[in-house]
Amino acid sequence: MYICVQKLELLEVFYSKKKLAGFLDSQKEIEKTIGLVPTMGALHEGHMSLIKEAREHSDIVVATIFVNPKQFDNKEDFDKYPVSIEDDIRMLETNECDAVFIPSEESLYGADDYRAFEMDLGYLDKILEGAKRPGHFNGVVEIVHLLFEIIHPDFVFFGMKDYQQVMVIEKMLNYIHSDILLFRCPIVRESDGLAISSRNRQLNRTERQLALNLHLTLLDIKDEYKKTNVQTLIDKHTERLNKLKNVVVDYIEIADSDTLQHLNEWKSAGKNLVLIAVFVGKVRLIDNLLF
Ligand code: PAJ
Repeated sequence: MYICVQKLELLEVFYSKKKLAGFLDSQKEIEKTIGLVPTMGALHEGHMSLIKEAREHSDIVVATIFVNPKQFDNKEDFDKYPVSIEDDIRMLETNECDAVFIPSEESLYGADDYRAFEMDLGYLDKILEGAKRPGHFNGVVEIVHLLFEIIHPDFVFFGMKDYQQVMVIEKMLNYIHSDILLFRCPIVRESDGLAISSRNRQLNRTERQLALNLHLTLLDIKDEYKKTNVQTLIDKHTERLNKLKNVVVDYIEIADSDTLQHLNEWKSAGKNLVLIAVFVGKVRLIDNLLF
């Protein structure tokens, strides 16, 4: 039987789990598929690319906005995280998102039925972002699991800007929630190449210029890779960036794109992944490039 349902015209904003669940149940009853885009807000064109991708694949697009304290290893970073709920809601509305869930911390972690969720992430939790931000991925997995349990999406959309996060979520889907299909969405950049990030808002004008070095370094490494060995390139670019005032490299790594393991030798085209994390002033930015 074909059921014709009026397209949702307005963005539905939910602060309560119960109301959201009621809305989603009514959509599932009429066999609508649910696409989920989890975010921490301070939305930008990178997030909107996920919403657009979700729009193409799902009947109902749900975004979530929650600055998850459990994934911050640094209290100051959490306190400074940009918040712009009203602008976020407007942006979601313009981009044809159907529903947004904006839970409070208490309603998630303080609920009577809350059960901590942990899983062994193996080495993924001990390298790169996992090594530099202890507990970060456990916090990510915990909140994403909670959101999956509330929303039960058919599809989820994650950005390759956070390459390691995508791998962590894929591992989680293999372990639990194997019925959910994950879409990897490409990195959206400013016109000069800087990867768009909520954290870019914390940069002053000089830092914004300096931040461009992340993308330029990735491009340089891609250009130079056939002529130079892996470690020489890492050392050269780390040294070069560290000489810039107000720039401190947290890591530059060249890894196998399937495993994130360090490369000693170049792989075939399309399997070499360079990942970079840099402090520009006090703001920590990440980016990556596959070649
Ligand atoms: P947040 O940093 O808000 O990012 C939400 C999603 O948007 C992530 O999947 C991220 O990779 C994607 N994204 C951010 N900038 C992007 C860009 N320039 N291009 C493409 N995609 C981009 O990632 C998180 O929040 C949190 O860890 C979360 C998964 C919501 C769990 O709290």
